[in-house]
Amino acid sequence: MAYRKICTEGNKILTKVCRPVKDFNMRLHILLDDMTDTLMYADGAGLAAPQVGVMRRACLVRDLSKEDRPVEEQILELINPEIIEEDGEQTGIEGCLSIPDVWGIVTRPQKVKVRAQNRNGEFFEVEGEGILARALCHEIDHLDGHLFREKSEKILTPDELRAYLAKERQDAESTGEKTETGE
Ligand code: CO
Repeated sequence: MAYRKICTEGNKILTKVCRPVKDFNMRLHILLDDMTDTLMYADGAGLAAPQVGVMRRACLVRDLSKEDRPVEEQILELINPEIIEEDGEQTGIEGCLSIPDVWGIVTRPQKVKVRAQNRNGEFFEVEGEGILARALCHEIDHLDGHLFREKSEKILTPDELRAYLAKERQDAESTGEKTETGE
């Protein structure tokens, strides 16, 4: 296992359409293991192969609701993923390891269903809602050469980011109170 360097915005590799994975071999497994190390080290929510310079349709999505579980339970490996269903809409904050320290508001589907292959080539389907749906869309976009900045209706200034995060914390606290009082 090893860490790989994450390409940043401006690198043309991030704007290209990736090719399907055809060989589910040791080389792919090493790539996925290295991507997992890189993602956990960077503490991100997802990572796509082009971000580490590999032009293949492979990405990882991290389920942040499982942050206290072992790494292998947090990380979903998606090879040749395709969104086959989407439903609803959510507007919220998004960032990217390839665009460090930049946060923007992006509208995404509230729910998606994705069909993909695992590292051994077996097909599976996964459904995501909320932040997981957002991460799935964001990573699959990378495989088509799209960065969230293109879809962002607003890039936040540092002050706006602080205000947004403070409000989010406040909302979370008030929801927490409601839970405690059983509402
Ligand atoms: Co990204």
